[in-house]
Amino acid sequence: MQRRIDPISSFNGTVEIPGDKSISHRALIFGAMAEGRTRLFNLPQSGDVSSTIRCLKNLGVTVSVSDQEVTVRGRGKKGFKDPQKVLDCGNSGTTMRLLMGLLAGQSFYSNLTGDISLVKRPMKRVAQPLEKMGAKIILAENNHAPVHITGSPLEGFSHHLVTASAQIKTALLIAGLCAHGKTQITGEIASRDHTERLLPYFGAHLDTSPTEIAVQGTETLNAVEFNIPGDPSSAAFWMGAAALIKGGDIQMQNISLNPTRTGFLKVLKKMGALIESEITQDIPEPVGNLRIRHAPLKAISIAADEIPFLIDEIPLLAILATQAEGETVIRGAKELRVKESDRIEAIASNLKAMGADVTTFEDGLSITGPQPLRGAPLESFHDHRIAMAFTIAALAAKGPSEIKDAECVEISYPQFYDALEELI
Ligand code: S3P
Repeated sequence: MQRRIDPISSFNGTVEIPGDKSISHRALIFGAMAEGRTRLFNLPQSGDVSSTIRCLKNLGVTVSVSDQEVTVRGRGKKGFKDPQKVLDCGNSGTTMRLLMGLLAGQSFYSNLTGDISLVKRPMKRVAQPLEKMGAKIILAENNHAPVHITGSPLEGFSHHLVTASAQIKTALLIAGLCAHGKTQITGEIASRDHTERLLPYFGAHLDTSPTEIAVQGTETLNAVEFNIPGDPSSAAFWMGAAALIKGGDIQMQNISLNPTRTGFLKVLKKMGALIESEITQDIPEPVGNLRIRHAPLKAISIAADEIPFLIDEIPLLAILATQAEGETVIRGAKELRVKESDRIEAIASNLKAMGADVTTFEDGLSITGPQPLRGAPLESFHDHRIAMAFTIAALAAKGPSEIKDAECVEISYPQFYDALEELI
């Protein structure tokens, strides 16, 4: 589906944000591994979260979805059923990688696959450390999915992470919960910490320090009730629009303000946008309210250690950089090349189509602003975050734009275009 986006001259209001995707995957999987019935509120009905629900159902988990809540009947850590068919993870890297951690220690064979984008993404980063715990995993050519797992008994292991990825960290902790003995993780552990916060909420004991996370295979999980906070990566599009458009002023409530997810908000503040935030709840996840207002933007440099805390917001940040005074440099972000699309190339190609000048590096981008953006035919590259980020760019451009295959927003934010129409 092609979407026409016309420029706008004002942007203000209040918007409701659907529940956080990262937290939802974890809440569903931990709920499935727990004893008892987990009740989740504000779970988003998006493509990726539906992929996790579909796979869990194929593993024998009863998941009931109503407008008000989603309930998960836990089967305990080892009580899953042989799926007898391929587990389709759709477009969702988080579904596939987290389930690899869960399935490695079960007593049956499983086969995980995904769509044309997911089967091109790296899986060795999860398979290799799991093999050190005793997992039997065969990947397809180039270390991609389909992933064949022959469930086997796992032993705890001391892993040293070289990639700051919350998906790898979580897969190993899930496997650690199903293993014999202690599993430790050191190295690049500074990434979104929803797993470290939620496992204790489900009753498991984790030993966490800034340099190490450890879990014992004897830990059990108990069902919880949990209201999923609004997704800051979805909220970011409206924050970006408010910051870009003169007079922009947007308010949101019940948003995750987890410090490992607020990197974009911090950068926006440094760039000059006016931000007010208040935390209204802290456990198990920090949640609060936000107001973002436009002000002239300044360029900023972003280094490798900040990247994990704003990785999904970089497409939007690159668009803001075109309107900021000075040179914005984003480095240490080579992970962007293996997301739902090669996001460095996707950003550069669309910005060039809009008439902007961009320099790309293997691990990032540099953009000097301000530069005018002109409306143009834009590609989504079937990547939800590229479609939404360039919708925001199109709002601030001169002349109309057309976004190709814009329906991919359904992967994380199906209500995105409805919310936009309401706001403008
Ligand atoms: C996610 C972690 C990040 C992020 C992805 C969701 C998660 O990926 O980009 O959208 O829920 O753990 P990596 O772990 O590959 O950095």
